[in-house]
Amino acid sequence: MAYKVGYFVGSLSSTSINRTLSKALLSVAPQDLEFTEIPIGNLPLYSADFDGNYPPEGKALKEAIAASDAVLFVTPEYNRSIPGALKNAIDWASRPYGENAFDHMPAGVIGTSPSGIGTAVAQQSLRGVLSFCNARQMTAPEAYITFKPEAYGENGEVLEEELKGILTAFMQEFRDHIERVLTVLPRD
Ligand code: FNR
Repeated sequence: MAYKVGYFVGSLSSTSINRTLSKALLSVAPQDLEFTEIPIGNLPLYSADFDGNYPPEGKALKEAIAASDAVLFVTPEYNRSIPGALKNAIDWASRPYGENAFDHMPAGVIGTSPSGIGTAVAQQSLRGVLSFCNARQMTAPEAYITFKPEAYGENGEVLEEELKGILTAFMQEFRDHIERVLTVLPRD
């Protein structure tokens, strides 16, 4: 059985290193994972005023998550947390009250930055948000990736064997996590 994974890139940058990482992750993922990016850059800033009448962008976001079996977050660290654009998207997805798109959804978290701790603090921040949203997070392995440009090819393929091993293991475990969660909590 194939699993549909909706993935978020937390950066809006045209030169995003997290987009590079997302391509690398897709290139090493098990064959039975099917990926669709869920865009976040077109969303207005969330307000509860929209709850009674979501705009098309908000509806599309929620529909894309609902069409997924699992979600994967590939995020930068901004000021020791996640970028506002990603938090905004999560806020949209979590509302209106009682219609939280992440409820019981298998989720994975990963990210890269040039620093030695490779988005560790942002990932912990994101995990807190996803806990409140009742997502079923993969808690291990964690992956804090220090970005080294020479480790990636032009299309995101992984050129360094050690990194390739880490990312391959992460995606295999993520696949198994999805299967475990959906066995207990099948999506309609
Ligand atoms: C950063 N950066 C950063 N890096 C880090 O490791 N910890 C941090 O707290 C921050 N804070 C931060 C804030 C803001 C506003 C910016 C623009 C950048 C540096 C960041 O890791 C680097 O710019 C990455 O390239 C961002 O990822 P993307 O956008 O290239 O995917």
